[in-house]
Amino acid sequence: MELSIDKILEQAEEELERIEDPDGIRKLQVKYLGRKGLVTQFLRGISNLPADKRPAAGKRANEVKKQLEAGFAAARKRLEDSQEATERLDVSLPGRGVLPGSLHPITQVTREICDIFTRMGFDVVEGPEIETDYYNFEALNIPKDHPARDMQDTFYISENIVLRTHTSPTQPRVMEKQPPPVRMVAPGKVYRCDSDLTHTPMFHQVEGLLVDEGISFGDLKGVLTAFVHQMFDPQTSLRFRPSFFPFTEPSAEVDIRCVICRGKGCRVCSQTGWLEILGSGMVHPAVFENVGYDTSKYTGFAFGMGVERIAMLKYRIDDIRKYFDNDYRFLRQF
Ligand code: DAH
Repeated sequence: MELSIDKILEQAEEELERIEDPDGIRKLQVKYLGRKGLVTQFLRGISNLPADKRPAAGKRANEVKKQLEAGFAAARKRLEDSQEATERLDVSLPGRGVLPGSLHPITQVTREICDIFTRMGFDVVEGPEIETDYYNFEALNIPKDHPARDMQDTFYISENIVLRTHTSPTQPRVMEKQPPPVRMVAPGKVYRCDSDLTHTPMFHQVEGLLVDEGISFGDLKGVLTAFVHQMFDPQTSLRFRPSFFPFTEPSAEVDIRCVICRGKGCRVCSQTGWLEILGSGMVHPAVFENVGYDTSKYTGFAFGMGVERIAMLKYRIDDIRKYFDNDYRFLRQF
């Protein structure tokens, strides 16, 4: 017996690894397991071994035979699979392409709002979403137990920490850090415990603040009119309606002519012909005092708007929740 059975196995496995076509497998099968194959010859030669060596040699030879049969079957399967894969590859099919990403409509509108104000010389700043009671209320002339706190459904984290209910706390934060003049807009997320067709617990606002010597209500009207004309349509008419905010005096809410019915009266404007788009006013002297500004020298105006509200009017969307459902069919339209 020239080759030991384990040597035969080793050699067969080496050759099997290099096989690249079914014909090669057939030849190998004959070489090892055929009638005159190496394994077959080994099995035949067992009867010539001493009696005490025969059982072990026979057992081992049968194991090797099984192992090789399995190896041939696996190699055949491997070749078949790769052949199938090549046949399935249709190189003439048009490519699938990668879908380009795009900005969320709320991001787009936020940027558009900020761009309009930056062109008028405003800086863009940001403030924290987790805010202290002091900046969210106190510094803005909304003392503890003031009824104005009822206007907002606040998420309290602890007695003195809240999720900011508006972007207005950026006003005292910015003023504390720098002397006038101030010209800033502050976009960001705000939170209120509220949820229906026109309210979500998280939404976006853009705050605005301008402080300098000799700033009047006329400046407020001029800047906000310029904003509306760029955001919507240069023909859009506005009205300034008296209102109340603790941090401004006087305060005004700004309405625009209904973009849907152009003033005739419809469901969206509740038959009034007007749509409210933002709150504004002349900064209350108490707010200036809280940040150490000289109220005899400086005046200013502030405003705050809801981005979803502006986006709903701009794109005529009647359910605010569409902006947050992440439905691709909705989002891809922007
Ligand atoms: N912070 C107010 C709100 O969330 C909006 C607002 C009104 C902001 C008047 C202002 C302002 O800066 O002057 O309802």
